[in-house]
Amino acid sequence: MKIFVLSIAFATCGVAWSAPDTLLLEQGQALYEGAGSCVACHLEDGKGQPGSVPPLVNSDWLGDTNRTVAIVLRGLAGPIKVNAKRYYSAMPPQLLFDDEKIAKIVTYVNNAWGNTGPEVTEQQVSAARASLPEDVLTPEAVLKRFPFPQNKQKANGTYTPDFDDTLSVIDHPVVYRTFMPGASPAAFAVALPGNQYYCWDAGESRLRYIWTKGGFIRGNQVHWSSNGKPIASFNGTPYYRAQSSLLKPENDRELARTNHGTPFYDTSQAQDFPFVIEGAKGPPKYRGYRLINGYPEFRYQLGNHVIHEHIKATEDATGVVRRFRVEPPVELTFNVTLDPAAKITSSAGIVDHEGLLKLSAQQAREFQLTILEREPFIPVPVTNTQGEKTK
Ligand code: HEC
Repeated sequence: MKIFVLSIAFATCGVAWSAPDTLLLEQGQALYEGAGSCVACHLEDGKGQPGSVPPLVNSDWLGDTNRTVAIVLRGLAGPIKVNAKRYYSAMPPQLLFDDEKIAKIVTYVNNAWGNTGPEVTEQQVSAARASLPEDVLTPEAVLKRFPFPQNKQKANGTYTPDFDDTLSVIDHPVVYRTFMPGASPAAFAVALPGNQYYCWDAGESRLRYIWTKGGFIRGNQVHWSSNGKPIASFNGTPYYRAQSSLLKPENDRELARTNHGTPFYDTSQAQDFPFVIEGAKGPPKYRGYRLINGYPEFRYQLGNHVIHEHIKATEDATGVVRRFRVEPPVELTFNVTLDPAAKITSSAGIVDHEGLLKLSAQQAREFQLTILEREPFIPVPVTNTQGEKTK
């Protein structure tokens, strides 16, 4: 394969291969650094972004230029190892560029930041475009076509994600507005420091579910539901699921599976808003959210009463605390929804065996609901390639 690359370089340049000329590299750099180009993710210094975008500086993946061209043309999605570090993300196909531009960009990448590699020709890119399958490439598909030389294999390739890929330690709240399984189109996915994650549905003004195992959603790891809408995915199973009359129990159980049939529904039809206030008719009105130190506080209104909800992980990160304020305060019943995988307690009143919490106006002014995972995540020992257990 290498020989093929070099022979094209010989043929088109008509001279022995050497570092590409400055003008070509400048053009490549301008394309690399253009709006919406590689720079948006891999950054100007080519170092990528820890935990989410792999580096191009000194990347072994660049060792075979045809591999790079394939990735740029078709994109790449799935768990990969680059120079022994793990990434689990997705790169979209780079549709902005024609063959000539891609040739220039890859030539630049091959020779930027101390990298050394061959010049890429337009013909080489066209040939790849004509021969590659149309789909976004998986790491397996790339490696089948363009395997690593044996001495580079260990540090590169793909891997099977496991619970250790709760990956990055979340040190500040991350808030996404995205399509989530088992939620209306107006859903939030929030990651809390302490690596607790929740889905809050603004369409229904309620928390939908909480999970921690398996890691947060991958922002760009999109799947498609049966009705053709993109929907985020995550690997774990929620340990807390709040009921909604709009979701069938089997859908509720399968929340973490991405492609189930009916993730979206018309929220105006929900019959079972969790808060019951005498004289105040539903459905609730969603009043927006604000960020307090990066944590969202949701506001929603039932009758004349505005409920504020603010969610944080517990200090030991085995669950979450939902802090509520009701203004003006009023006597209410809160249907908490029990879940066998969660232990639920309230700072005021008692959550009964049906999951009902009755509060006086005084108690409802400000109270906290703590939801703990019954079997918190305990890291499993990782088996290395020799089959020995490591810590
Ligand atoms: C939207 C963000 C994004 C853009 C734009 C982008 N990439 Fe990527 N790139 C990624 C991510 C994320 C991965 C890792 C994908 C995975 O985890 O499977 C990746 C992987 C790669 C890889 C293989 C791994 C490595 O680090 O060597 C190469 C090569 C690469 N990109 C080159 C490029 C080039 C060249 C461009 C511009 C033409 C580009 N990328 C544009 C996000 C991006």
